[in-house]
Amino acid sequence: MTNSEIAIIILAAGKGTRMKSNIHKVLHPLGGRPMLHHLLDTIANLNPTRKVIVVGADKEQVKNSVGSVAEIVVQEPQHGTGHAVQVTKKAMAGFNGDVLILYGDVPLICEKTMQKMLSARKGTNSASVVVLGFRVDDPKAYGRLKVNKNGNLDAIVEHKDANDEERAITLCNSGIMAIDGQKLYGLLDALDNNNAANEYYLTDIVKIANSKGLRCAVVETSAQEVMGINSRSELAEAEAIFQNTKRESFMTEGVTLQDPTSVYFSYDTKIGKDVTIAPNVYFGSGVEIDDTVTIHAFCHIEGAKIRSGASIGPYARLRPAADIGEDAKVGNFVEIKKSKIEKGAKISHLSYIGDATIGENANVGAGTITCNYDGYFKYKTEIGAGAFIGSNTSLVAPVKIGAGAIIGAGSVITKDTDQDALALTRSTQKQIGGWAADFRNKQKKKKETK
Ligand code: UD1
Ligand code: CA
Repeated sequence: MTNSEIAIIILAAGKGTRMKSNIHKVLHPLGGRPMLHHLLDTIANLNPTRKVIVVGADKEQVKNSVGSVAEIVVQEPQHGTGHAVQVTKKAMAGFNGDVLILYGDVPLICEKTMQKMLSARKGTNSASVVVLGFRVDDPKAYGRLKVNKNGNLDAIVEHKDANDEERAITLCNSGIMAIDGQKLYGLLDALDNNNAANEYYLTDIVKIANSKGLRCAVVETSAQEVMGINSRSELAEAEAIFQNTKRESFMTEGVTLQDPTSVYFSYDTKIGKDVTIAPNVYFGSGVEIDDTVTIHAFCHIEGAKIRSGASIGPYARLRPAADIGEDAKVGNFVEIKKSKIEKGAKISHLSYIGDATIGENANVGAGTITCNYDGYFKYKTEIGAGAFIGSNTSLVAPVKIGAGAIIGAGSVITKDTDQDALALTRSTQKQIGGWAADFRNKQKKKKETK
């Protein structure tokens, strides 16, 4: 009996030589996350009871990256896509549901398409093998899908093995398939490698299934969704697709992007409503933005929380654990790391704030630096509510500035400052009348007599 359980097999044993990389191809990132994890995230929605990843000799990298999320099966040496599925037989023992075969280097496929394929496996006229196809004007080296008058799939012919008539077909094989788990390994047993590549082709199970009177069907999708990543250039192409999808979805959800193509998101960026983002803004991972925030141009933001009404940039850098309070302002050339900026506080120009807390409505003047590091350890700076830090102040941590205190510009503060006090470390200003004019006269004469 076929049940409704789903198993996923992800093929990733290919060498990926065209990436010219020591990193496994499927671990290269899209939107800041390995492409394999995009797939794992998408399939999680299908609640699969088994997840198997087929890898080559470089098993450890993939294992370290996915942990216990999926079972790793090694295919070494690699004798083709059919062989790659064959080696999962033991891992799949006792499984009777539907098997969805995916590719680690085809990460953009969405859940809806997978559901469509799985639906074609259901009902009275269900297909035993469902192949995901796509149409392109120039099919290059893709396998071609031979569909008959009844709309059923007769066979898949690899480009290398195809005749001219078959090469004229523009319906291509993505490689992705949904197969009756009770039939799969029996079909694979019938494979041979009598073909141009001397490989065991997974695609041949279509012909074999038909010869056993099992129906095969095609589900079509866009070429973009099933694009494979084999080179850095294709990785960049996939990144562009990923970014465009993110941009569209944020705009749909009420985010204004003044120049969408110049804003880069991470896979996990979260943004509320009525947020405006100016051109040239980069989001690393772990950013969460509440409603009505404005991000001005040229900001680099990662691991930060930005609360409603806050204004960031232009040219601001927010690093991990920066927490920017409601209506707070972080201006140009300000870097903030691991610091909590309370409601309404302002750090408007040219500052480094690290390991600090800045109280409500405090004003941090231009050029203020928290000296948080002595070369060995990091120390905290605490600035109380309503405090005013004069421009060009160095706050040598650990140090506390009391609420409402004022720090004179240009000070180097090494000791805690009381609430509402004035603290300054400036030397007394001297003036010598006429000195500048005398100096110029003297120097001018000296130069003339030379
Ligand atoms: C395969 C299909 C072709 C389809 C194309 C789509 C076959 C025989 N052909 O061709 O119809 O149009 O994909 O891109 O299936 N892999 C293994 N072990 C192996 C061989 C491959 O795990 O022994 C994995 C690779 O890592 C890769 C995927 O399978 O992710 C596809 O392999 P590849 O060699 O690129 O297949 P193609 O020749 O492109
Ligand atoms: Ca390929």
